[in-house]
Amino acid sequence: MLKPEIEDGQASLADPQFRADVLAGLERRPRAIPARWFYDRRGSELFEAITDLPEYYPTRTETQILRDHCPDVAKIVGHGRAVVEFGSGSSTKTPVLLRCVSPRAYVPIDISGDFLRDSARALSAGFPDLTVLPFEADFMRPLTLPAEIADMPKLGFFPGSTIGNMIPLMAVDLLRAMRMSLGLGAMLLIGMDRIKDEQTLVRAYDDAAGVTAAFNMNLLDRINRELDGTIPVDAFRHVARWNDDRARIEMHLEAVRDAAFTVDGRPFAIEAGETIHTENSHKYGPRDARILLRSGGWTPIGEWTDPEGKFGLYLAEAQAERPAP
Ligand code: AVI
Repeated sequence: MLKPEIEDGQASLADPQFRADVLAGLERRPRAIPARWFYDRRGSELFEAITDLPEYYPTRTETQILRDHCPDVAKIVGHGRAVVEFGSGSSTKTPVLLRCVSPRAYVPIDISGDFLRDSARALSAGFPDLTVLPFEADFMRPLTLPAEIADMPKLGFFPGSTIGNMIPLMAVDLLRAMRMSLGLGAMLLIGMDRIKDEQTLVRAYDDAAGVTAAFNMNLLDRINRELDGTIPVDAFRHVARWNDDRARIEMHLEAVRDAAFTVDGRPFAIEAGETIHTENSHKYGPRDARILLRSGGWTPIGEWTDPEGKFGLYLAEAQAERPAP
């Protein structure tokens, strides 16, 4: 997810898609900029810091579920599969999984080649006998996986509740793309954060130390730096709110006063109280999660949680579906 850094005054070198998304997002109503643009170098560092916050329970809860139940997962998936991770490989969760399912190969997939190769190298050092095949691609689309794993049974791995950052329409598209990429008979181990009391959810996205606020506000700094923006950052504040209708935490940047600025030479004006919507984090109860998986062509076959039921880890299989009834 890490994007190349751009020096001051190099707006013309900015990612054209970033420019297009920001300009279109500031133009539309309600204003919204895709969350993927959070992750420049500083944003990625801030996200790492978020995962250690006392209020941000998902990372440590999912890691503990994986540690506690990995032998149960291994009993079902067996040994010797090719593990295909959608994302560059999480520093703590991936080794836990690899140790207990002892795969024949590991294929991390990510759109950012540099980040992918760095994390693949770090992982290889801990698993010298494992065939690691980093694959630079956009996993939102069906993929032809490396020929080396064509004949191996596959286990997809999508931890972190990253699926929650997509609206359900996109989440289902992604699950279907994963099914096509991995093929019939493949399994998928996926983490999804659960619906819980509003206070716990909001605190996880609005921590006392202000790290999540800095993560959200960094998007404005990035726009100013990479797109020649003049956004007065102090005219905005971080807002995290629970949208019960859509079962999601939303992050916004709210204008605390009227402000006028330019981005890439284009003028914008925002009124006090207006927001720029920057992220959704959908939460799924156990039944919701199972329906989501089935909608994407995955049959749930295993499910684990923590003692407080905060987070769900699901194992699903790409079975040949028979149309109802
Ligand atoms: C990456 N993703 C699963 C995180 C989440 O919880 O939705 C991103 C995040 N945003 C703010 N805090 C964490």
